[in-house]
Amino acid sequence: MTDHILVERQGAIQIIRMNRPDKKNALTRAMYAKMSQTLAEGDADPAIRVHVFLGVPGAFSSGNDLADFMVVATGGDGGTEVWDFLMALARVEKPMVSGVDGIAVGIGTTLNLHCDLTFATPRTVFRTPFVDLGLVPEAGSSLLAPRVLGQQAAFALLALGEGFSAERAKATGLIYEMVEEGALEASVLAAAGQIAAKPPQALKIARDLMRGSRDDLVARIGEESEHFRERLKSDEARAALTAFMTRKK
Ligand code: COA
Repeated sequence: MTDHILVERQGAIQIIRMNRPDKKNALTRAMYAKMSQTLAEGDADPAIRVHVFLGVPGAFSSGNDLADFMVVATGGDGGTEVWDFLMALARVEKPMVSGVDGIAVGIGTTLNLHCDLTFATPRTVFRTPFVDLGLVPEAGSSLLAPRVLGQQAAFALLALGEGFSAERAKATGLIYEMVEEGALEASVLAAAGQIAAKPPQALKIARDLMRGSRDDLVARIGEESEHFRERLKSDEARAALTAFMTRKK
């Protein structure tokens, strides 16, 4: 188990807080496993009506722990925790709200494409440097981002690795609202409370209708994952990961 994910319940709201501030909330296998388990428990519990994702001040998440990627890049076993979490995101039954402050890299960005509402602070920058790392988009983002942002903004985000400010994220539909740092958590919890107060069955049907079949999303995550695992063992990825691990600050 990990104490890098804190789980808290406030009435019908289940809060999943990523809490590894010294590594800017880089996600380890144990953190993914805990988040998958928590989503499943919340979905199975009628007392919970909405999931909330939060980070720490200044860091929502710096993405997958690059040391874990390096293990795979050098022939080790990466486990299934990441992919289990991505599938959990695709299949989750209850609405998800996220509150993003500061760093939102890799899965720290793509997780929000699965959320029903995302709030972000003005200092937030969303970034997915997959291609620069010799990798490919994950978490179904190659399907979801073009749908949400349009083809060209999605290309800028996912292929060029451009940083999207909160303002640009709002303009392109990646987030719902921009709110000041001091108001982030209250705004997220207020929205979650609003969701929790709705008739749950009607809300579920409405959400399911808006999302449509998950089959294409699940298939895309599988397809991305195959490429991703292959790419992790490529010379391009090994060089980029080594550069990060051996960089001088
Ligand atoms: N995996 C592992 N460790 C990470 C990490 C990651 N994804 N992101 C940050 N860290 C670690 C740093 O190595 C550093 O550890 P140290 O203090 O033991 O040296 C610590 O977190 C703080 O990071 P630092 O780089 O000093 O903070 P910063 O504010 O200057 O920069 C980032 C933050 C996120 C911009 C920068 O760390 C970064 O680019 N990280 C890699 C992001 C990434 O490529 N993620 C994968 C996407 S698929």
